[in-house]
Amino acid sequence: MLNSKLPEVGTTIFTVMSSLAKKHNAINLSQGFPDFDCDPYLQQLAYQAMKQGHNQYPPMRGIDPLLEQIASKYSQLYQIDLDPGHEVTITAGAAEAIYSAITALVHVDDEVILLDPAYDLYKPAIILNGGKPVIYHLKAPHFIVDWNEVKSLITAKTRLIIINTPHNPIGRILKEEDLVALESLVQETDLYVISDEVYEHLTFDGYTHESILKYPGLYSRGFAVFSFGKTYHVTGWRVGYCIAPKELTKEFRKVHQFNVFTVPTPLQYALAAYMEDKTMYLQLPQFFEHKRNYLQNALESSRLKALKSEGSYFQLYDYSELSDKIDTEFVQDLTINHGVAAIPMSVFYTDPDPQIRLIRLCFGKTDATLAAAAERLCAL
Ligand SMILES: Cc1ncc(COP(=O)(O)O)c(C=O)c1O
Repeated sequence: MLNSKLPEVGTTIFTVMSSLAKKHNAINLSQGFPDFDCDPYLQQLAYQAMKQGHNQYPPMRGIDPLLEQIASKYSQLYQIDLDPGHEVTITAGAAEAIYSAITALVHVDDEVILLDPAYDLYKPAIILNGGKPVIYHLKAPHFIVDWNEVKSLITAKTRLIIINTPHNPIGRILKEEDLVALESLVQETDLYVISDEVYEHLTFDGYTHESILKYPGLYSRGFAVFSFGKTYHVTGWRVGYCIAPKELTKEFRKVHQFNVFTVPTPLQYALAAYMEDKTMYLQLPQFFEHKRNYLQNALESSRLKALKSEGSYFQLYDYSELSDKIDTEFVQDLTINHGVAAIPMSVFYTDPDPQIRLIRLCFGKTDATLAAAAERLCAL
């Protein structure tokens, strides 16, 4: 029998719930991907790149036009002067960027601070590298970070902290005061930071995204991770990127080159051309805010109670008026017997509170899908 390196890990809940939704013909508000297609122009650009012969290995770091577009984007957004050749790397989705950054940083017995609930990739990646996740528990319904409490978790072995804003699954955004507090924490210690910013453009109600790229004291020890999948509705293309200072990028690329080496050439050319039109990502806050509101309004008469969502394409709903089942059982019942798939909140916690009665719904879907799901949920 193989001695598993991840004995407690099974198939991710996202895959499990999406398969269950398919099997029972349920409306899938579980996994975080849109059920509408990407811009046909972007598809055309990918085909065009193939026809133009961009079909062989690209450079390991990514093609220059895409690296340059990314550097120019953040220079405009945050007035940061990035060296595209040495600070930007194109990755196989944000997932590979996170995995490679963790692998580049974490040595055996190093401690890594995670703010739980957390995206499910972080913990196994730390464990596979011999590191030890150290958990700071964010409590419902406000999920506020007390940075003094986070500081008390730091020991001589702490190597890294991973943050995620806008946050999956809680839909909250770290504010300027959070980033300032983290910046002084990083400056007082030897911590590195991985900042998972895949939902950078999905911010609502006038909130702005606070990237570590805006805070020199954070960026100097940070890896900022992004996803074209989330920004351009192409989660299946598996293209993302990592921005880090030159010295950190050097170490990052040592792992990246032996992990995936590089990512599909024609897709990189297509994305580089598509990025020229900034409106495509600048209009995303309104686009997704409409969807959040649409679902929330449609569920107004249901017995599900919405928690605040400030960003991402997720909103948490409290189902305690409907059922006292634990959330993993509740979502099974919801999918199989009522035709709507959701994600149970407890799976994002290392040590979930058994009293938790929250589900995560993804509103990154067509209005028709959201309306149909809401009709079923209102009937409960
Ligand atoms: C918080 C978070 N980080 C990273 C990822 C992975 O992004 P990608 O699909 O670009 O690998 C996801 C995808 O759902 C996510 O929600």
